[in-house]
Amino acid sequence: MTTVLAGPVNPEIGAIRHHYEVSNELYRILLGPTMMYSGGYWADGEDRYANHDEGQLRKLDAFIELAGAAGAERVLDIGCGWGTMLDRVTKVHGAKKAVGVTLSRTQADYIEALGNPAVEVRVESWEDHRSDEKYDGAFCINALEHFVLSSLPPKERTKRYGVFFEQVHSLLKPGAGFVLHTMTAERLPLNRQLLDDLKFLQREEFAGCHIPHLSELTAGAEGLFEVREIRNEQLSFADACRVWLRYLAERRDEAVALEGEDVVARFERYLDIFAYTLEDKYFNNFRVVLTRRG
Ligand SMILES: C[S@@+](CC[C@H](N)C(=O)[O-])C[C@H]1O[C@@H](n2cnc3c(N)ncnc32)[C@H](O)[C@@H]1O
Repeated sequence: MTTVLAGPVNPEIGAIRHHYEVSNELYRILLGPTMMYSGGYWADGEDRYANHDEGQLRKLDAFIELAGAAGAERVLDIGCGWGTMLDRVTKVHGAKKAVGVTLSRTQADYIEALGNPAVEVRVESWEDHRSDEKYDGAFCINALEHFVLSSLPPKERTKRYGVFFEQVHSLLKPGAGFVLHTMTAERLPLNRQLLDDLKFLQREEFAGCHIPHLSELTAGAEGLFEVREIRNEQLSFADACRVWLRYLAERRDEAVALEGEDVVARFERYLDIFAYTLEDKYFNNFRVVLTRRG
């Protein structure tokens, strides 16, 4: 079942749809059959390209275990993309119900077409999500980067991360697991190329999005969640971006026929920026494992 948010579209939502409502066919070319838009877990020396899909599914399985979501009554995925986590946690790991939240109507259509009766998708923002029953576990996988506007003053941004953690806290049962995967920014010296690339990300591809600092997240979670683990997994995301660039190069003509040269060139540029900024450690990609305090 899909619920679609009503009412006028604010600029924040418009910016997300600019990126995520490019056709599902283009995303299929870019991401391959798993339709995961985040990092994977590969063993040292494993061929990322040949084993891309295995790495993505391995990551999902690890997160499900960390959140204690196998066999759960209700699981929430905030920023659920094309529903791969929702589908896997219910079909393979026995969760009875999985609810996903996204702003993208094309993603919701894709999830609907999976035809999984244990999955529900809602087209709404994380802060508008309400549920009569509390969840046993939750995920937010490379979506938090979109949730707070860079135009806000630093104090206001920190408050917004607090609102995010309060919202997730209010939706979970005491003791429930929450696995967050998110990029964070380091305070490193900036060179001209990096500044230009960050401007492109901020102004053209992901307008207004703020990549948080770890301190903003830990301040927001304090008192609400017990932090069980924080790990930096920069290369899991960078390696995935490099594989997607290869997929896109292989089927570039098809991609251009679908969405045009400008869109394809934008994707190529932003994927390369993410890959190198993670490889060069300007950005982190933290896996944060949390337990909701009672
Ligand atoms: C990079 S994708 C990650 C998707 C998925 N978690 C994955 O790993 O494949 C980010 C997701 O966040 C969603 N998103 C962005 N802003 C949102 C908001 N305010 N509320 C809910 N979802 C949002 C997008 O629609 C998209 O599904």
